[in-house]
Parts: sequence; C-alpha cells; structure tokens
Amino acid sequence: MVGNWKMHGRIHDNATLLIEVAAGASALQKSVHVGVCVPCPYLAQSQALLSGSVVKWGIQDVSAHTGGAYTGEVAAEMAADFGVTYAIVGHSERRAYHRESPELVATKAQRALEAGLTPIVCVGESLEEREAGKTEQIIGTQLEAVLNVLTEEQAASIVVAYEPVWAIGTGKTARPGQAQDVHAFLRGKLQAKGASVANVPLLYGGSVKPENAEELFGQKDIDGGLIGGASLKSKDFLAICRAAQTVMLH
Ligand code: 13P
Repeated sequence: MVGNWKMHGRIHDNATLLIEVAAGASALQKSVHVGVCVPCPYLAQSQALLSGSVVKWGIQDVSAHTGGAYTGEVAAEMAADFGVTYAIVGHSERRAYHRESPELVATKAQRALEAGLTPIVCVGESLEEREAGKTEQIIGTQLEAVLNVLTEEQAASIVVAYEPVWAIGTGKTARPGQAQDVHAFLRGKLQAKGASVANVPLLYGGSVKPENAEELFGQKDIDGGLIGGASLKSKDFLAICRAAQTVMLH
C-alpha cells in the first residue's frame, strides 16, 4: 500500500502525518507492506521519522540520467542516499505534463533499479482512449517499453501500478471488475516475460478511499493500491491499509 503525496505537504504537517502513519502501520500484519512517496525536499524528514518503523519511503520520479548538467533533476542515486525504497516512474501526471515517453519511463525504471530502488511503474489510459477501445493497446505499450529493457531478474523486482487517468483525483473509481480485467491483462504480459515476473505486485490507483478499498483489493489480480488524496490523511490511509489486510486474511 503506497501513498503518493504528489506536490502536497509542508514540513510541520508532514511530521504529524508520518508519525501517525508509522504508529498505525505498526499494528498491521507484516505481510502488509506500507510506503509513502513524498516530495524530494522531505526525503530527509521521512528518513528521520520513519527509520526503524515498518513504513518505507519513496520518491515520485527519478532522472533518466545518473548525474551531470541537468538542472532541477534528481538522480536515483541521490534518493538512495536518503534510504529510499520506492521510486514512482511514469505517473500519468508526468507523462501528460512533462511529455514523458514510454521509452523515457523505461530508462527511469532502469536507473532506479541500478540505484537499488524498487520502481513503481505506472500505466494507465485516458477516458478518450478507453472509449475508443484502446485501453489494452495503450497500457500494453507502456508496460512493454519497460519490460523490453529489463532482464528477467530486474523485471521480477519491479512493482506495476494501473492508474486509469480518468479515475485519478476525480472521485470516479474504476469498477472493481473493470480494474480486475486490466490487471489480468497486465499479469499476462508480466507472465510472458518469465515465470518469476508473474508475481510482480500489481497496484490499483485512482480515487481509492476507505469505502471502496476492500472491494477493489478483493479482486484476484489487485495486490495493493497507489493512493493519492487519501494518503494525505492518516486516518483514511490507515483505513485503506486495514482494508487490504482484511482482504488478505480471508
Ligand atoms: P487519487 O487517489 O487522488 O485519485 O490519486 C491516485 C494517484 O494518482 C496515485 O498515484
């Protein structure tokens, strides 16, 4: 269960949120993995407050470069200096607003892996693409670009998140069956890369809330969630984590 804070947070509020999430997560079963992806300036704060807790922290993007004259970019190695576990790559907001191509996202996933981070590779279609019947074509292309550049061993250590663009921050969630269909398609693609890749965790993201979490996570190929807005409130984020635990225990 991974929170994506996006460009939210201030140092004072973060402290309360991080401490509350760490405290709440400590009561969960060890099999429920919890992480928060924070804005870069707060990686040090996250490291200070979450070290020794069960909650891992992550970055929301990494550069495709390892270093050099790239003003404003952050290398995966730099994030690793702050004990980071996860690196989101290819979030739809970056694909849309920063014109990130499937190939660029693939390079970013490679850089993250080389730095010892776990890339959370986001894929998703827009409403127009869904309505045109292109969902599988779009997300297939996005995932394949990444799988093509990774070895089977590398591919086995990524996380994939399906985030339909039309469900992000809109309050519109994919129906559980609708999300499951896409996850089953993604699972097939992973399986084709190799037996060890088939078990890569598949997260769903897009307006996950405490009220819809259990039904979504109850789907066969939905292994967890990438949570935006609801991860900014410890009560909601922890309720979503508990919903995942309830599903796992059944
Ligand atoms: P919301 O949960 O706010 O819809 O955001 C989902 C998301 O984009 C997580 O990466």
